[in-house]
Amino acid sequence: MKKPILSKRMDAFPPYLFQELDGKKQEEVKKGRDVISLAIGDPDLPTPKPAAGFAAKEVLKPANHRYPYSRGSAKLRRAIAGWHKKRHGITLDPETEVLALIGSKEGLAHLPFALTDRGDTVLIPDPCYPVYKTGAILSGAEIKRLPLERRNGFLPDFDSVPKKLLDETRLLFLNYPNNPTGAVADLKFYAKAVAAAKKRGFWIAQDAAYSEIFFGKPSPSIMQVPGAKDTAVEFYSVSKTYCMTGWRLAWLIGNREAVGALAKLKDNMDSGQFNAIQETAAFCLKEHDRLAPPIRHIFRARADLFTRALKKSGWRVFEPGATFFVWARPPVEQSSLDCVYRLLSQAAVLITPGSGFGPSGEGYVRFSLTAPEKRIAEAAERISRINW
Ligand SMILES: Cc1ncc(COP(=O)(O)O)c(C=O)c1O
Repeated sequence: MKKPILSKRMDAFPPYLFQELDGKKQEEVKKGRDVISLAIGDPDLPTPKPAAGFAAKEVLKPANHRYPYSRGSAKLRRAIAGWHKKRHGITLDPETEVLALIGSKEGLAHLPFALTDRGDTVLIPDPCYPVYKTGAILSGAEIKRLPLERRNGFLPDFDSVPKKLLDETRLLFLNYPNNPTGAVADLKFYAKAVAAAKKRGFWIAQDAAYSEIFFGKPSPSIMQVPGAKDTAVEFYSVSKTYCMTGWRLAWLIGNREAVGALAKLKDNMDSGQFNAIQETAAFCLKEHDRLAPPIRHIFRARADLFTRALKKSGWRVFEPGATFFVWARPPVEQSSLDCVYRLLSQAAVLITPGSGFGPSGEGYVRFSLTAPEKRIAEAAERISRINW
C-alpha cells in the first residue's frame, strides 16, 4: 500500500498547550486530588438568563433554520454599528465596515490570509494569545515578535523597534485589554500605533475580545483615533462580555478594504453563524447596559481578592486593569513550567505557564479567575502554604 501523507504545514503547529495541561490535571484527579483549575480563559458564569431565554424562542422560528448570510444579518450589523456609536462615539457603515464572525478566534486565524502573502512579515506581541500565529503560519508569512515589557506596562514601544522591521511589516496584531497580562491601552497609545502604521504602511489588527471586562475607565476603541480606519481593524466578541464562549459570535470593524477582503474569503469558506445566535447577539447589544455590568463586577471582585492574596504571599503581581487574568511571578525565581508543576503538586492548583504565550512570558504564570469566588479564595490559601 502506498501511504498517504500529511501536509508539511502541520509540522509548524506545536501541540496545543491546554491539551497538555489538561492531561497533567487528569493525572492528579485520578490520584483523588481536588484540583482547582485556573488555567483556561473560559468563564464559569452562565450566559445571562434574558439572553438564553431570548435565544430559546429564536431557535423555534423556522426562518432562522436556513443558511444564514455569512457576513452577518443586516439587523445584527446595524445593532453592532449602533452599539459602537453609543459605546465609543464612532460611526460605522454596517454594510462595509462591519463583519460578523464565528467567534473572534475564527476571524483572527483567517485574517492573515486576506491581508498577507507568502514571505510577508506579521508582527505579533510577545507574550500573546497563540492564535495570532495560526493564519500567519498557514499563509506562509514570516512571524516576528514584538516584546511586551513590564516597565512599559506591557505595551509595545514602537520607538525601540528597528525601523527596518517596521518597514517590512505587513500586519501587526495588538490586543488590549491584554491576554495574558491584563494590561490596558489608552487612546494616546493607539494614536502612536496608528501613526506608525500609516508612516510605514502596515495593517493593524487590534483584538478587543476583553473590551467590556474593565476595572477602571471603559477601554477605548482604536477606531476612536482620527484616521484609524485608514489602516486598522478591530475584533469584538460576545464570548467574554456576556459569558457566551460556546455560542461562537464575534465581529470585525474598521477599514472597508480589509473588512471586505475577510468577508470575501469567508463567503468562500463558511456560511456564517446560526441566525438564532445572530439574533441573540443583537438582543445582547441592545440590552448591554443591563447584561454586561454584573459580569464585569464579578470579575473585578475576584481580581481584587486574588491579587491581594497573592501579594501577601510574596508574589510579584502585575495589577490587571481589565480581563479576568492575573499575570505574576512567584516569590522565588524559577521557570514558568517549574512554577506550574509546583502549584499542581503542592497546592493542586492548575495554572498556565507564561512561556506558553511566547519567550517574553518566561518566568511568569497566568491565573485565569474563571472559577467561583470561594474556589479562587481556596486556591489563594493553598498557594500561600507552598514551601518554596
Ligand atoms: C485575546 C483573545 N482573543 C480572542 C479570543 C477568542 O475569543 P472568541 O471566543 O471570540 O473566539 C480569546 C479567547 O480566549 C482571547 O483570549
